[in-house]
Amino acid sequence: MTAADLPDPLPDLLTIPTPALILDLERLTRNIARMSAHVARLGARLRPHIKTHKCPPIARQQVAGWFGGVTISTLAEGFAFADAGFDDLLYAVPLEPGKFRRACDLARRVRRLAVITDDPDLPPLLSAAAMAAGVALDVFIEIDCGDGRTGLPFADAARIARTARAIAGAKGLALAGVLTHAGQAYAARAADERRAIAELERDRMQRVAAELERLGLEAPCVSIGSTPAIVALDAPLPPNFEVRPGNYAFFDAFQAQCGVCAFDDCALTVLTAVIHRGADKVVTDAGAIALSKDIGASDFFAKSGYGLVGDVAGRSLGLRVAAVAQEHGRIPVPDRALLDRLPLGARLRIAPNHSCLTAAQHAHYWVVVADRVVDRWPVARGW
Ligand SMILES: Cc1ncc(COP(=O)(O)O)c(C=O)c1O
Repeated sequence: MTAADLPDPLPDLLTIPTPALILDLERLTRNIARMSAHVARLGARLRPHIKTHKCPPIARQQVAGWFGGVTISTLAEGFAFADAGFDDLLYAVPLEPGKFRRACDLARRVRRLAVITDDPDLPPLLSAAAMAAGVALDVFIEIDCGDGRTGLPFADAARIARTARAIAGAKGLALAGVLTHAGQAYAARAADERRAIAELERDRMQRVAAELERLGLEAPCVSIGSTPAIVALDAPLPPNFEVRPGNYAFFDAFQAQCGVCAFDDCALTVLTAVIHRGADKVVTDAGAIALSKDIGASDFFAKSGYGLVGDVAGRSLGLRVAAVAQEHGRIPVPDRALLDRLPLGARLRIAPNHSCLTAAQHAHYWVVVADRVVDRWPVARGW
């Protein structure tokens, strides 16, 4: 985004077309500084996951003082970040042959591209593609430490070793290490439960890496960590550990309800306008597209619904978005006096349930400092 692309004058919170993403720069900067200090205390390397925001100016803050590496979740993010000067990328979604050509194109554009696999049949196929394209790729083996999403089961030593041998023996590929995502930390309700999951993740991964080393298959890097798991850790990590938290940049209503952050840490809100008033509710123009329809969190915390509602200054009104249609968000307002303060067109700010999914629905962030719009940053969407 160049200054020339920005509307002049910049709109304010009462004139930005709704629904729109509002990013509180001071909260963002504070969240980033806290995680940076925490990871430094843990003695690990920070490779933030940029899938949360898909926005180079935010990632630049996150990697300040670190080695510059970031984690990506789509090749589209990879190309946008390569264009923005990031040259050490970890694409942390299992690679499949349909993406080889674009992955090799991306590898040509950066100093280092690492990919992940949990399939011993992939390395020879990827090696052929890399050799044909004249690129070298680092490959992590994805391990499942209990989340059950993707990855080889941590206890399946034979298959892990077979995959490691397939990578180490493939021209154009190098075994970068082992990687896991303990997504089960999101189901934990208490900090000590999260810490136990994070420590199990750390210990299981250390054992997997040690076993590979015993077999003469060196896994130089152990890559772990979601926001709840990393926040929960307090004992130092071994120096070959890299951590990949992402959500911490924004946090969201879900993380706040879990106790991973405070509500005042939520840096991302959706600015919305009242489009309908009923006897005990309002409906706004932030529906399923503007907020996302991620109700995963509501399974645990029904109170947050699709998002928590604040006034235009972001101060909590004690309301939640209870239901969404494509362009409609229904907010129950049982308090008559409060309803009277919400006329047609009234502007509200909703802290979304899951900020990563919300951000991906929008083209840009309106960046605010003390509720004054100071900039607009793009979101690198798509795949
Ligand atoms: C592979 C991987 N690493 C890291 C993360 C970051 O997790 P969080 O957003 O909780 O920080 C994710 C999130 O889904 C992920 O899939």
